[in-house]
Amino acid sequence: AAGAASPPPPTEPPPTHPAVAPLAFLLGKWRGEGEGSFPTISSFRYGEELLSSHHPSKPVISYTQKTWKAASGEPMHAESGYWRPRPDGSVDVVIAQSTGLAKVQKGSYDAEKKTVALQSELVGNASKVKQITRTFQVADGELSYVVQMATITTSLQPHLKALLNRI
Ligand code: HEM
Repeated sequence: AAGAASPPPPTEPPPTHPAVAPLAFLLGKWRGEGEGSFPTISSFRYGEELLSSHHPSKPVISYTQKTWKAASGEPMHAESGYWRPRPDGSVDVVIAQSTGLAKVQKGSYDAEKKTVALQSELVGNASKVKQITRTFQVADGELSYVVQMATITTSLQPHLKALLNRI
């Protein structure tokens, strides 16, 4: 009918829930490569795909990632969970890992710098892992992260770093 609002053009991004808006820089599908290491293991290279999505009616981001051996494509670690950004700049994250670990992480985000920093509150079903920290940053359209880990034998050290691009 005359005067009715026309639908948005298809190029316009879908609306974002206000709680999720400060983390909108993370949303989308990303793909790239990373490098893993730890004092107790041989270093390795991996491919990764990461998907962060949300529905505008919910204040939560659904997160899922999978990795594979860079050389052969054979599947490696995978995990998925939910991120709940809070208006005070904190974020609550729960993650289930393909290795059987469950993690609750807490952290903070900076919408201007496009960074998120997480520390583990709780690691369940882990015989070795004591602590996990992660930092994510989006700069020049690229998503980079660093994961550090402490185990029963080793203090907090880098385990993973990766660089992903939007696909
Ligand atoms: C080794 C935890 C993510 C690949 C390990 C070890 C732990 C661990 C506890 C054994 C270290 C030791 O024995 O001293 C975690 C945690 C992760 C994570 C908590 C996520 C936060 C990943 C990812 C990959 C990966 C994403 C692959 C892309 C490996 C490999 C080893 C290893 C290849 C060495 C071989 C092995 O012992 O199975 N990780 N890891 N990890 N991790 Fe991870």
